[in-house]
Amino acid sequence: MGRLVVVSNRTGDLGTKTQTGGLAVGIVDALKSSGGMWMGWNGEVVDKPETSNAQLTTHGNVTSLTVSLSEQEHENYYLGFANKVLWPSFHYRLDLMDYRTEFAKHYAAVNRRFADTIHSHLRNDDLIWVHDYHLIPFASELRRRGSAHKIGFFLHIPFPSVDVFSAVPRHGWLRECLLQYDLIGFQTKNDVQNFCRYLKEHSKAKFLSPNLIRWQGRTISIGDFPIGVDAGQFSAMAHERDEGIELERMRRSLLKRFQVISADRLDYSKGLPQRMKAFRKFLDSYPEYLGRAEYLQIASPSREDVTAYADIRAELEQLTGAVNGKYADFNWAPIQYINRSIEREKLALLFRCSLIGLITPLRDGMNLVAKEYIAAQDAEDPGILILSKFAGAAEQLNDALIVNPYDINEVAQAIRRAATMSMEERRARHRNLLSQISEYDVQRWQNEYLAALRAVQTVAPQSM
Ligand code: G6P
Repeated sequence: MGRLVVVSNRTGDLGTKTQTGGLAVGIVDALKSSGGMWMGWNGEVVDKPETSNAQLTTHGNVTSLTVSLSEQEHENYYLGFANKVLWPSFHYRLDLMDYRTEFAKHYAAVNRRFADTIHSHLRNDDLIWVHDYHLIPFASELRRRGSAHKIGFFLHIPFPSVDVFSAVPRHGWLRECLLQYDLIGFQTKNDVQNFCRYLKEHSKAKFLSPNLIRWQGRTISIGDFPIGVDAGQFSAMAHERDEGIELERMRRSLLKRFQVISADRLDYSKGLPQRMKAFRKFLDSYPEYLGRAEYLQIASPSREDVTAYADIRAELEQLTGAVNGKYADFNWAPIQYINRSIEREKLALLFRCSLIGLITPLRDGMNLVAKEYIAAQDAEDPGILILSKFAGAAEQLNDALIVNPYDINEVAQAIRRAATMSMEERRARHRNLLSQISEYDVQRWQNEYLAALRAVQTVAPQSM
């Protein structure tokens, strides 16, 4: 079996034992089992990088190959095309899309540089797995250099509907680039449908079966591979002893209080203002919860150089202030808002002692936080997940309270329903949710994706 080569915008830390985030866990695991290489940006922005700025580090049978970005590349490729064009549009926010030709130019150029950098390190039987919207043109760049490798792509974010995708400048080019992969994987069936519908309307690709197409002499597979979490590992973290958290739990139980929790990157796709308004509506409608319900929003800073992110942060701070100003008492505040990253270990403990997990993105590829919230619960006294119907996870997690995040009233009602739910119903829902996330875990995600990639039929290899 050949090596696995993973390419993603950011690489995980191969040196640490505990990986942060389900994605990194899955990838590191896959890399270690077949040996391989992980290539990506090292997170550094330098004055003037060249191809030679690549750094090679080895950890056992896995090598990491990283490059830094120049300021211009960071500005136009990462902040620009990736995060001002693709991210907003794929999350249905065409209003926030800001397209400039230099963005597309540098986006293509960085993909070219990544391909140039890795090309000489590749072996003929390597299996190449490319991740996410930053790297759509990567395969076409490798093909241009004669690569006949099996190259798979996995999109972690949603693939939007035909009308939305066809409004993205250069969508025809993006389509041609995607069709250079052998396997195109999405999070959900809905994403697959959107992509196939787009191909039917905007390309001459021939459908051999619902998930197999023929294009320019090549066969391309398309499939949904919902990403999961390592439920056992997260549950173990949630059950570590922590005095501070225990004390909080006791205090809350003495005062007959409960906690509602949300944890997100501070991103406009996450629906944070709508969620705060829903919590305010809940307090307005059910004043018996004043002094009893506490809402903890953890919002880790993200992509702060993009204006839309600064705007959402200001809006959230203003809303938190307004709700607390209206309702807080000397010994209770309805909202606790943390605008910092919290270690995963701590997050797991906080999830465990929160009665309600409120995960209501306006659009989300999957949302692993929803799955982690389930993993962290005690089977005997589990919390309740309220989940947006627009999170990819909603396709699997039917036993959550599924809500429309735009309907403030509906979300407020769901909080009320959760707050009054019988223990029997809580346990039954949690049992089903836990079996879902345990069955479709991160291991299964990578196994199924890689098995599908290995199984693709490619054209006869050319020499590199
Ligand atoms: C999302 C994307 C990832 C990205 C992550 C963090 O989950 O799908 O590709 O790495 O956000 O965003 P950042 O821009 O900090 O890498």
